[in-house]
Amino acid sequence: MKTLIILGSRNPKGQTARAARAVFEGLASEGGKGEKVFLPQKKIELCRQCDINGWGICRTEGRCVIEDDFSLLVGKIRKADTVVFATPVYFSDLSESLCAFLDRLRRITRHESGKRGISDKPALGICVAGGGGRGAPACAVSLEKVLNICGFNVVDVIPISRQNLDVKLSALEAIGKWLTTCESPESKP
Ligand SMILES: Cc1cc2nc3c(=O)[nH]c(=O)nc-3n(C[C@H](O)[C@H](O)[C@H](O)COP(=O)(O)O)c2cc1C
Repeated sequence: MKTLIILGSRNPKGQTARAARAVFEGLASEGGKGEKVFLPQKKIELCRQCDINGWGICRTEGRCVIEDDFSLLVGKIRKADTVVFATPVYFSDLSESLCAFLDRLRRITRHESGKRGISDKPALGICVAGGGGRGAPACAVSLEKVLNICGFNVVDVIPISRQNLDVKLSALEAIGKWLTTCESPESKP
């Protein structure tokens, strides 16, 4: 069982990373393997809205014309059994790096070949409001919406604030354990 953990934070010691680590520890305790990717360390350009209608080869071929780290990460998603998307809450919404990535992912998944290895794959969302603590539920709504559009099977989205992070760490670990029981569509007979 392999889980890809995609973080929209640049801080490996920050609150989003702490939340993701708890899920990772739960996974590992059940023999699951996890790989973490910090999106701000990757090169993910903004969608270019290539043609006059705002579409591009995302629509016709299910891939993106931009040569950066996007396709490498899409390949990692395809190979994983489950995916965790963890974002710091910015302005009650996703961080810019996760937004840029998912903006492009939702486009390629309009096409059959882009859906490959993504449709129905179990995905967990985590939104950490580490400032005043407001906006995590609103961010969770945004994250669920875009993950659904991409075609994931969104198994849960967990809003967290700075004030309740410590309390939720044990729940996140339990969810990590439970994730190892979620079957990816590829592993179903
Ligand atoms: C541009 C920006 C907007 C933010 N908006 C919010 C917010 O709406 N609510 C909140 O509680 N914290 C907000 N914060 C604080 C972040 O949520 C906090 O820094 C984040 O959880 C830290 O995560 P990290 O430690 O993983 O980097 C914001 C921070 C930045 C940089």
